[in-house]
Amino acid sequence: MIPGDGIGREVTPQAVKVIQAATATTKRPIEFVEFDWGADKYLREGISLPAGAVEMLRDEFDAVLFGALGDPRVPSNQHAADILLGLRFKLDLYVNARPVELLHDRLTPLRDRTEKDIRLMVIRENTEGLYVGVGGFFKKDTADEIAVQEDVNSRKGVERIIRYAFEYARQNGLKRVCMSDKSNAMTFAHDLWQRVFKTVRQEYADIDSRHLYIDTLAMEIVRDPRQFDVIVTCNLFGDIISDLGAQLAGGLGLAPSANIHPGETSLFEPVHGSAPNIAGKGIANPLGSVLASAMMLEYLGWKPEAGALRNAVRAALRQNYVTPDLGGDKHTVEVGDWLAKEAVTNFVAQT
Ligand SMILES: NC(=O)c1ccc[n+]([C@@H]2O[C@H](COP(=O)([O-])OP(=O)(O)OC[C@H]3O[C@@H](n4cnc5c(N)ncnc54)[C@H](O)[C@@H]3O)[C@@H](O)[C@H]2O)c1
Repeated sequence: MIPGDGIGREVTPQAVKVIQAATATTKRPIEFVEFDWGADKYLREGISLPAGAVEMLRDEFDAVLFGALGDPRVPSNQHAADILLGLRFKLDLYVNARPVELLHDRLTPLRDRTEKDIRLMVIRENTEGLYVGVGGFFKKDTADEIAVQEDVNSRKGVERIIRYAFEYARQNGLKRVCMSDKSNAMTFAHDLWQRVFKTVRQEYADIDSRHLYIDTLAMEIVRDPRQFDVIVTCNLFGDIISDLGAQLAGGLGLAPSANIHPGETSLFEPVHGSAPNIAGKGIANPLGSVLASAMMLEYLGWKPEAGALRNAVRAALRQNYVTPDLGGDKHTVEVGDWLAKEAVTNFVAQT
């Protein structure tokens, strides 16, 4: 576990507590090792991602449970870029899976939509695009300044993420995949996406696949989210559209994500950041981290435990045992304790 900064340090221990309650019930061994990588260490020792960290995680661990990074004392956010982008790129976690699932009708801002209407998966390319940091300045800090940021798209990178989306649909009994790009304006980078999509979709005749420009997708996902099962898109658009989706399903405090390289050490985290505005107040919502933990357990092949975590979250929402961001009056630790008990009760009820 890498709790990180701010509320990452408050929500991650709660998620660990709930995981431990569930795995103790099924008697599955799970060992956590905590790493203190984050702003404090960076300011104290000048170290963000320690030397050898990536190799250690890859060789000695099955998964990483991550909190959040970001601290006002590090305005450049350098440590966050080194650690989070470093792990995503160096572990080659090319899939960013962000489920958008409404867990209680009252949580969506969309009128007349219910749980059965909002259930889709955003598959975001996670290692290329505009996030690779290729670019530069010309005549910086002058009136004639030019800034260039390159959008990097490899055939291998585009093909493997589109293929993952189709495989995800097939393995989960979902019938529809929508690829979204901006090929009408990004006539080189997204022309590649178009060509690869046309080739790969031919192998998945059992899946209904379509294309939407990203601006159209943004409209359609709000107008009628029932149209979508799986959405696959590039790094930047996936970042934005999944936050839009998170809001449709109850807000940032509830949204989980997985950074995956199939078959390898992968990283699981809530979508939210370190929320310095509420850090230290004990009111951060731990549900996003608990749902990210459920994705982690599922990735490890531990479906019953993953199900127990998800059911516990649903029960908390039903009973309004939640933090103030969701309209409740409970503290982070109270919610964590409640979920841990509920996860155990869940198993007892099943047996
Ligand atoms: N993966 C990450 O580590 C990650 C992701 C996003 C932002 N960040 C970083 O986090 C810092 C803060 O960024 P931000 O404020 O734009 O985004 P944020 O997600 O931290 O917070 C946005 C808003 O949502 C609220 N919020 C977020 N999570 C919540 C939770 N679990 N419970 C209750 N309320 C919650 C916050 O209080 C805030 O009002 C920045 O340094 C940013 O770079 C990190």
